Amino acid sequence: MGLKIAVLASGGGSNLQALLDAWRTQQFRNAEIVVVGSDKPQAGALKRAGALQIPTLALEWSKFSNAIAFNQEMALRLAEYNVDVVCLAGYMRILTPEFVRKFPQRILNIHPALLPAFGGKGMYGHHVHEAVLKSGAKFSGCTVHYVDEGTDTGPIILQATVPVLDQDTADTLAERVLIEEHRLYPRAVALYCENRLRIVGKRVHIVEKA
Ligand code: GAR
Repeated sequence: MGLKIAVLASGGGSNLQALLDAWRTQQFRNAEIVVVGSDKPQAGALKRAGALQIPTLALEWSKFSNAIAFNQEMALRLAEYNVDVVCLAGYMRILTPEFVRKFPQRILNIHPALLPAFGGKGMYGHHVHEAVLKSGAKFSGCTVHYVDEGTDTGPIILQATVPVLDQDTADTLAERVLIEEHRLYPRAVALYCENRLRIVGKRVHIVEKA
């Protein structure tokens, strides 16, 4: 039996698309994307999944009394698909500790900067690129990491760098970072599916192919 992957996304879903493309071209050994979930029923990501007849799970955030109730329901619904691993792809809700504990070392996230810088509460989407520009950093990039109970604090799996150019705006920087995200996330998920990641303290070692 292969790994069952769920992808959670809140936005347009270009990272979801990169994962779907990688899966459909057999880059994820022994794994299957079984469901795509969102906190936004209108998310473009759900349309991308629907176009490929992949089951979708749309839970409207505002219909729940709090984050705990929302996350409980999301976890219950994912359990119906026997999900092994959850990939966050532009998912803009912080997971509750209860949710994270249901999937220990089995949740991956992509962040549009080089963690541990420019992460944490409020650091998502454009806020990240604006903060990078403001800081004067010469490089940004993206990070795929395991999700732990903190915000953007889990062990780092892979990173890619992108130079920050003098004329960059948050939009142009976001665009260049996104190109790298689309390369990086499928690579990280492929390594996970091949069981080649070993968490050693805060570090993630990548072992040779068996
Ligand atoms: C991506 O840049 C992703 O790294 C970022 O949102 C964008 C979603 O784009 N995620 C976060 O900021 C999470 N903290 P997409 O919907 O086209 O994949």
